[in-house]
Amino acid sequence: MPDAPLPVDRDAFESAALGLREQGWWIGRDALDRELVDELRADLQELMEADRLHRAGIGREQDYHLDRDIRSDRVFWLTRRRPAQARFLERMEQLRLSLNRELFLGLFEFEAHYAHYPPGGLYRKHLDSFRGAANRIVSAVTYLTESWQPGDGGELVVYSEDGETVSATIEPRAGTFVMFLSEEIPHEVLTSRTDRTSIAGWFRLNTSIGGTIDPAR
Ligand code: OGA
Ligand code: MN
Repeated sequence: MPDAPLPVDRDAFESAALGLREQGWWIGRDALDRELVDELRADLQELMEADRLHRAGIGREQDYHLDRDIRSDRVFWLTRRRPAQARFLERMEQLRLSLNRELFLGLFEFEAHYAHYPPGGLYRKHLDSFRGAANRIVSAVTYLTESWQPGDGGELVVYSEDGETVSATIEPRAGTFVMFLSEEIPHEVLTSRTDRTSIAGWFRLNTSIGGTIDPAR
């Protein structure tokens, strides 16, 4: 059941297309409205309490495996069935359209999951798009961790395209929103010392046209 359209805050994501074009990544502090971030955190909390999250995998199809040493989050794929998720997906739909308008990326859809990294959790340096299968084009991470403190760990490290230099180290504080080019920007989640919660999402091309149905969820 779609909610009423949200008022669009034109400014919050205004520099996003420019950031993606010029440097391959962009940080929006408080780009999403606070109320929505709080709703999402509460929604995720409910799902965690009901034990609805499951182990995340790495890679797709024949590459797919579970490896706690590489990636240790548990995930829940978003749908429009729960109101907080529907509102978030609607917001991302507006962002998809604006990125397409400004960057001519032809982004076709957005998929996302909640992620919970328990203490000790991490995700080693990786790219979000695999083997030239141009599926995920722009990655978007929304942080939900309340009262994150220096020393809590779980920062996102964004590297230069060659993976040699650190471009940014991002504190996973609730309200922070990050986007980067999925095929080009290596990144890593440092070991978290607390419960770290976020939404990892991807703007994608319509890969089912290419003959391979893509999501290996
Ligand atoms: C991912 C990822 C980054 C983060 O899920 O692919 O890189 O900061 N997440 O949670
Ligand atoms: Mn990633």
